[in-house]
Amino acid sequence: MTTVIDGKQVAASVIDAVKTASQALTEQTGVKTGLAVVIVGNDSASHAYVSSKSKMAKECGFTSVQHTLPEETTQEELATLVQTLNRDESLHGILVQLPLPKHLNSEPIIQSILPEKDVDGLHVVNAGKLATGDLDGGLVSCTPAGAMVFVKRTHGEDLSGLNAVVIGRSNLFGKPMAQLLLAANATVTIAHSRTKDLASVCRNADILVAAVGRPEMVKADWVKPGATVIDVGINRVAAPEKGEGKSRLVGDVAFEECAKVAAVITPVPGGVGPMTIAMLMANTVIAAYRKAGKAAPKF
Ligand SMILES: NC(=O)c1ccc[n+]([C@@H]2O[C@H](COP(=O)([O-])OP(=O)(O)OC[C@H]3O[C@@H](n4cnc5c(N)ncnc54)[C@H](OP(=O)(O)O)[C@@H]3O)[C@@H](O)[C@H]2O)c1
Repeated sequence: MTTVIDGKQVAASVIDAVKTASQALTEQTGVKTGLAVVIVGNDSASHAYVSSKSKMAKECGFTSVQHTLPEETTQEELATLVQTLNRDESLHGILVQLPLPKHLNSEPIIQSILPEKDVDGLHVVNAGKLATGDLDGGLVSCTPAGAMVFVKRTHGEDLSGLNAVVIGRSNLFGKPMAQLLLAANATVTIAHSRTKDLASVCRNADILVAAVGRPEMVKADWVKPGATVIDVGINRVAAPEKGEGKSRLVGDVAFEECAKVAAVITPVPGGVGPMTIAMLMANTVIAAYRKAGKAAPKF
């Protein structure tokens, strides 16, 4: 029997743990966890993401601050806002929603966020801590952290003896995912667009993670029987069966056929997706515990 992971349910369990941790911190120290979310411009998808993040922060009992800046905001204005948020003692997490409008350079903005408030885990200090195996000192990028919750709930904390293949080498997902798997003792291969015979590389994987952005690229004969398959891809494809001009979301994994071979698999939508926001909340409460000089909870 194949297990299809219910990402919404796992995300809800993480959110419950965040609420409990946040409440306990307030009871013990009087500190209320605070998250600031910054959005620039008019991108409607980004606005939808940001409002669900702000809403979830409120649900978790956090102080939730949203800064909505106009499209014509300058680099200096945005940089000044980040400095103000860095100095604000009531805020433990700062998230600048990406992508920024084209005239803005996101990299110096992200790197100007204090690493201890970088709840997106994109600062080089946090990337460096992960790369050197310091999982307790830094903040890990939310989507790989969420995918890793699935892996650990399936295989336990120690992945010794297991082969993991991550398809994709982005700074946002592929590299941090590979480092998390390595830190848990898996034997890790990172595959990408220049990998030779990708199918046979994947067939070696006890844990196969796909983060490519190509609809249903991973086929059943790429999957080792009994493997755990984590699909990170989010691709919108035409769905004429739903009516003219309609579309649907699919992952990087051909779900129906791969589910017949895998032991555990994530669907799209409803798999990794809901975990990203849950781990953002987890990172924020972790940051608040550390600032209060308390041992941070684990998720
Ligand atoms: N919240 C979420 O659920 C969430 C969060 C982040 C990302 N995603 C989704 O995950 C997917 C990947 O995101 P990303 O930001 O990592 O994307 P990205 O920066 O575009 O990276 C894609 C990676 O896939 C590799 N690749 C492209 N074509 C390939 C091929 N034919 N064979 C093997 N590898 C190939 C690329 O290799 P090269 O490096 O050689 O070019 C690259 O390393 C996207 O669908 C994105 O929407 C979802």
